[in-house]
Amino acid sequence: MSTLNDTTIIITGATNGIGQVAATELARMGARVVLVGRDAQKSAAVAQAITAQTGNPAVDVLLADLSSQAEVRRLAGEILARYPRIDVLLNNAGAVFGSRQLTVDGIERTFALNHLAYFQLTNLLLERIKASAPARIVNVSSAAHSGATLDFDDLQGQRRYSAFGAYSKSKLANLLFTYELARRLAGSGVTVNAVHPGPVATGFGRNNGGLWGVVFRLIAPLMRTPAQGAATSIYVASSPELAGVSGKYFSDSKAVESSRASHDAAAAARLWQVSAEMTGLPAAGA
Ligand SMILES: NC(=O)c1ccc[n+]([C@@H]2O[C@H](COP(=O)([O-])OP(=O)(O)OC[C@H]3O[C@@H](n4cnc5c(N)ncnc54)[C@H](OP(=O)(O)O)[C@@H]3O)[C@@H](O)[C@H]2O)c1
Repeated sequence: MSTLNDTTIIITGATNGIGQVAATELARMGARVVLVGRDAQKSAAVAQAITAQTGNPAVDVLLADLSSQAEVRRLAGEILARYPRIDVLLNNAGAVFGSRQLTVDGIERTFALNHLAYFQLTNLLLERIKASAPARIVNVSSAAHSGATLDFDDLQGQRRYSAFGAYSKSKLANLLFTYELARRLAGSGVTVNAVHPGPVATGFGRNNGGLWGVVFRLIAPLMRTPAQGAATSIYVASSPELAGVSGKYFSDSKAVESSRASHDAAAAARLWQVSAEMTGLPAAGA
């Protein structure tokens, strides 16, 4: 993809932070970008700003609260009805939650939003993505995954919840999902890779208010700008150098090693099975 003309790129969490910058830069390269947002007004304003900054009118908005499985299903249906091809799916929406919360589906919110939404949306779009090959799936993970392991007896932190613990496990789940999907997609012409954006001053963490919000505001000057943070997602989504490269983890636009736990193929297979059951998808998938 030396230019992104005639490509369609779906980006979740495109209304703030890293996702917004990635959407802007990919639109600047000529792609039709589909911003998945959850607030109609904010999403429309971001789409207008992207068109104004890039001169690209092909900036669409679709709305969904990605912590709701019914909304993810509706979103996938709308994407399939509107877009005959999907060249890139950038799973980026994510958050950390200071206290344990449940979604409308009764699932712990970090696991639901950060992992199950990536899993469900990707699987619902997978046939279309495969039919669009060469195509790419990019999952935004985090270096926060290192040190985490999954406890399959307590995936939703019922026994013990800590915000960072739940977040780091969800980012480990992003990597296990990426590597399992890459194995399943071998030879299909669809690549799947994960990225770490670095510590970036965005809206991240500020959704929690209180001490969390204060801490994230205080450390913001020490962090990367959203433009710096988005660079690796943009590179992995668009660089011609990465044609055919799959099952890798990128930081600072270079392939780097992820944790040992992220390469546990048995855990990845088990997570796939559990995630399929939790989202009502066939486990065979891909
Ligand atoms: N910032 C960092 O230091 C850092 C480091 C490593 C990894 N990451 C990862 O980078 C990704 C992007 O984060 P960011 O730093 O750019 O954070 P951000 O500024 O808070 O942006 C998060 C995006 O996700 C959307 N979102 C949140 N909950 C949603 C929901 N229930 N349904 C639909 N969309 C939802 C937000 O929508 P609204 O605009 O409506 O709020 C926003 O567009 C995340 O996966 C995060 O884990 C971030």
